[in-house]
Amino acid sequence: MSNPQSISTAVAKLYNTYPFPPEPLLDEPPPGYNWRWNWLTAYSFCTGQKPARRDVRILDAGCGTGVGTEYLAHLNPEATVVGIDLSSGALAVAQERCQKSGASNVAFYHLSLFDVKQLPGEFDLINCVGVLHHTPDPILGIQALAKKLAPGGLLHVFVYGELGRWEIKLMQEAIALLQGDRRGDYTDGVAVGRQLFATLPKNNRLRKREEERWAWENQRDGYFADMYVHPQEIDYNIHTVFDLIDASGLDFVGFSNPQVWSAERLIGKDPELMERAQRLGDRQRHRLIELLDPQAITHYEFFLARHPLSTQDWESDQELLAAIPEPSPCIQGWQDSPQFFNVDYQITRLEDAAWQFLLGCQENPTAQKTVAEILETVDASLEDVRSLHHQQLILLTPTP
Ligand SMILES: C[S@@+](CC[C@H](N)C(=O)[O-])C[C@H]1O[C@@H](n2cnc3c(N)ncnc32)[C@H](O)[C@@H]1O
Repeated sequence: MSNPQSISTAVAKLYNTYPFPPEPLLDEPPPGYNWRWNWLTAYSFCTGQKPARRDVRILDAGCGTGVGTEYLAHLNPEATVVGIDLSSGALAVAQERCQKSGASNVAFYHLSLFDVKQLPGEFDLINCVGVLHHTPDPILGIQALAKKLAPGGLLHVFVYGELGRWEIKLMQEAIALLQGDRRGDYTDGVAVGRQLFATLPKNNRLRKREEERWAWENQRDGYFADMYVHPQEIDYNIHTVFDLIDASGLDFVGFSNPQVWSAERLIGKDPELMERAQRLGDRQRHRLIELLDPQAITHYEFFLARHPLSTQDWESDQELLAAIPEPSPCIQGWQDSPQFFNVDYQITRLEDAAWQFLLGCQENPTAQKTVAEILETVDASLEDVRSLHHQQLILLTPTP
């Protein structure tokens, strides 16, 4: 099946049968946050500073049943959000999901991302999660999206990684072989796949990886189908993912799961190895990390930017002292205790001085207190402020 039209038809059929993600609909805004879907925190991660505007245009390209779109709408109430998808079945769920939870700043269109030029105007933030690798031509797809990005805009992409998914790939092929001419019948594929996992020996590598890593979410057929009976999936490694990025014509800003890409977590206890790793170029160091920890690389998620994107590193004490700090909107419980949920929903604990600083900026941005003014009232240092910023716990607005 190499014809782009027949691939798209097969993909739409899969998601009409199993709209994805198969998450329940709620009568209220979804709980919690994901900082990658909040314009303020995403922009701050990419540039070091809070954006000047909130009334931005956001596109969720390949929105599926709208789980991400709903967050984009609620986390960015001043933005206008547009969701597009190939599958009318998935879109119907997305529409109902947003209506039920009261997200009124969103509109959906039955449109392929290859035809995104049909939408009017440009977007400040484009989210394209779990989609490009299911298209017949991801390079053409990313180029189509890049053309719709406003100058200074951000594109967030998530595509699959081959190293952490090789067992899945083998299982997909095995299921397809056993399906024979019933390939393309996705309910049959799910039945065959489930039967296979139940039958394989307990210590079989494919079965073990499924049970250890994926089985919890794969209890729902929608997740299982998306993983094992997909008609189109292109998996990447560092070399090919940067081919995709380079072809977009956009600037690579960084991975949006930076902890995974730290050599420190793998070889940090040997300073000489660390020094050798530091001497590598960025892409070589990324390759080293995925070679050393292949099972962690099930996907690549990253931000790209359209030039010009003005950034701030806050190395100048003077500029940092004059900045207006405020707590990130994507942290929880920090008002009550120095131990709270950070932007990745992990529990973090701050030293008292850093926590006092965080509390000191809670009246901002309304109060417009500068870093210097807050430091006069608490026992924190500029390094504490830089560390809070580095951990994405505060946003900083430069003063003109
Ligand atoms: C795995 S789902 C991801 C849904 C959503 N982005 C999320 O992360 O929850 C992939 C979605 O991409 C859609 N899709 C695939 N190819 C597409 C295309 N060319 N244009 C628009 N949507 C597409 C599918 O219909 C499906 O709903």
